[in-house]
Amino acid sequence: MSIPHLFHLLLFCATQTLGVRIQSDSVVGSEGVIQIELEGTVSLLCLSDGDSEPDEGLVWLRNGAMVRLMEENKKNVSRVCVTPAIQEDNGATFTCHLSSNASDSDSVTLNVTYPPPIMGSEELVVEEESVLVLQCDILANPQVSSVVWTVNGSTVDLLAGGFTLTDDGVTSQLIANSVDKSLHAASYGCLANSPLYGEFNKTFQVTVTDKVMKFPLMPIIAGVVVVCLTAILAVVSRWRKIRQCCK
Ligand SMILES: *[C@@H]1O[C@H](CO)[C@@H](O)[C@H](O)[C@H]1NC(C)=O
Ligand SMILES: *[C@@H]1O[C@H](CO)[C@@H](O)[C@H](O)[C@H]1NC(C)=O
Ligand SMILES: *[C@@H]1O[C@H](CO)[C@@H](O)[C@H](O)[C@H]1NC(C)=O
Ligand SMILES: *[C@@H]1O[C@H](CO)[C@@H](O)[C@H](O)[C@H]1NC(C)=O
Ligand SMILES: *[C@@H]1O[C@H](CO)[C@@H](O)[C@H](O)[C@H]1NC(C)=O
Repeated sequence: MSIPHLFHLLLFCATQTLGVRIQSDSVVGSEGVIQIELEGTVSLLCLSDGDSEPDEGLVWLRNGAMVRLMEENKKNVSRVCVTPAIQEDNGATFTCHLSSNASDSDSVTLNVTYPPPIMGSEELVVEEESVLVLQCDILANPQVSSVVWTVNGSTVDLLAGGFTLTDDGVTSQLIANSVDKSLHAASYGCLANSPLYGEFNKTFQVTVTDKVMKFPLMPIIAGVVVVCLTAILAVVSRWRKIRQCCK
């Protein structure tokens, strides 16, 4: 064996026998990423390697915060379990190190995948000239690759239908600022495509009713005030006359 080879081998052994390493029953991808489904379970095992002290204490951190461990789960090997995985666990980093030396550590990061919560159908009744808002929640991991809105089965023509579309990665909204029965009474659909989970859709049945005359409250209040003032003035002037004739 050549000298450089031997050197590499020694270096390899050295890095293998120092410190701690994390094992998992899940596949640990490149750069220590573990992919799991929402509500799934991931079990992580931390082993202190080789020539560390007997009964070496181990510490787990989740995003830098200490994880509480049972006393018997701190020596030589330590196991933590994430179950069920929630959306907030996405991107969480679990780090294990010796309690005596924090610079000797190993980490894994969770990639919690979930589909967009798009399903079912909704019925909406809107008044003519009011605002129509159709909303689809599209938050997913990985992000949906496309969101398409349809009206009566064909792709919405934003300009012709007087619609605006907003999409912030969390919700997609199709908005009509002034509802027109001939233009907007229809069956709508929101179709999203997830690169991991496939197609999702939600339908909206929109019924448009005639504009109801709003009770004209302000003119009525104004009228009532005028009538009252007139009555008071009438009484006051009458009172003067009465007092005058009584003198
Ligand atoms: C930890 O390992 C040492 C030797 O490697 C052993 O003597 C000790 O019993 C182990 N402790 C536990 C709690 O397994
Ligand atoms: C902690 O671990 C690092 C990396 O293995 C090592 O260089 C350092 O000497 C250790 N420190 C102590 C106090 O053992
Ligand atoms: C998480 O996993 C999904 C599905 O494999 C992948 O598309 C995405 O890029 C991953 N995200 C990260 C941050 O690794
Ligand atoms: C959608 O279809 C319904 C029922 O066939 C029809 O009454 C309505 O005018 C259509 N709307 C649009 C915008 O095409
Ligand atoms: C919408 O989803 C349902 C199941 O949720 C499916 O049966 C239907 O074919 C889908 N429609 C479209 C247009 O993709």
